[in-house]
Amino acid sequence: MTDRYAVFGNPIGHSKSPRIHALFAAQTGQDISYQAILAERDGFAAAVSAFIAAGGGLARGANVTVPFKEEAFRLATRRTPRANAAGAVNTLSFEAGAIVGDNTDGAGLVRDLKNNLGCDPGGRRILLLGAGGAARGVILPLLLEDPAELVIANRTEETAARLALEFGRLPGGAVGVKPDGMGFPGLAGRQFDLVINATSTGLSGGILPLPTCVFAPRCVAYEMVYGRETPFMSQALAAGARVADGLGMLVEQAAETFFIWRGVRPQTASVLAALAKVS
Ligand code: ATR
Repeated sequence: MTDRYAVFGNPIGHSKSPRIHALFAAQTGQDISYQAILAERDGFAAAVSAFIAAGGGLARGANVTVPFKEEAFRLATRRTPRANAAGAVNTLSFEAGAIVGDNTDGAGLVRDLKNNLGCDPGGRRILLLGAGGAARGVILPLLLEDPAELVIANRTEETAARLALEFGRLPGGAVGVKPDGMGFPGLAGRQFDLVINATSTGLSGGILPLPTCVFAPRCVAYEMVYGRETPFMSQALAAGARVADGLGMLVEQAAETFFIWRGVRPQTASVLAALAKVS
């Protein structure tokens, strides 16, 4: 009676998630299966339904990756506050009559920063580059760490300003600092202790018009994608920053998801080391 999980995406062939969850399961003695499923671009909901139906009651959950995170948000019948803030879902749990949507991406980033990189966002001046889905997913978890400031800079200034306004209005004093939104020219003369690239230039290879001054002494520059040195990483290295790619975020978001599904938190260091060897 093995519980069944899957990751849905398009493309999905290179996903590391099956390997990561297999390593977590072996380490914690959990009896699960985890497969990668390629869904047609217009067939995400149907693919999830088919997976649940084929599981005969043993389909317990799924990860969701590009390009289906917003659709997974809509598919969920119940959502966590952090999924609502992100407007996207990367983790589904199938419960009796309900599909619960969560988003573990931001928690994964924060855990990687704190536990693996020794870079606690608390009290730091943070610059978040980009205002698309990847950026939105990490804003609330970063704000909850109580940074000294959070600036969202984007090619299209208006999108950054809108996002900053939205997260500045969070109810109940949930967060202490209100984010600022601006275009890249607004960064002239500014310095940050943590610079996070959440634009899609990590994938496309585009070069961001960043003034060198944004990287303060001992700055950590975090690229959300992994597997190669991106132009952002090269810029940051040239400016003397300490650079990290997104492999740790990938492993930590998976650990957070595994904890949601199984109630056990796996150790990530050995998994990260195993993946780093082959990436
Ligand atoms: P994702 O889900 O990966 O965040 P997205 O929602 O399409 O993808 O957002 C892409 C982000 O990368 C946006 O912030 C985009 O800036 P715009 O809002 O101005 O489009 C940013 N981006 C993409 N290509 C870029 C480039 N060449 N230079 C600067 N920013 C870029």
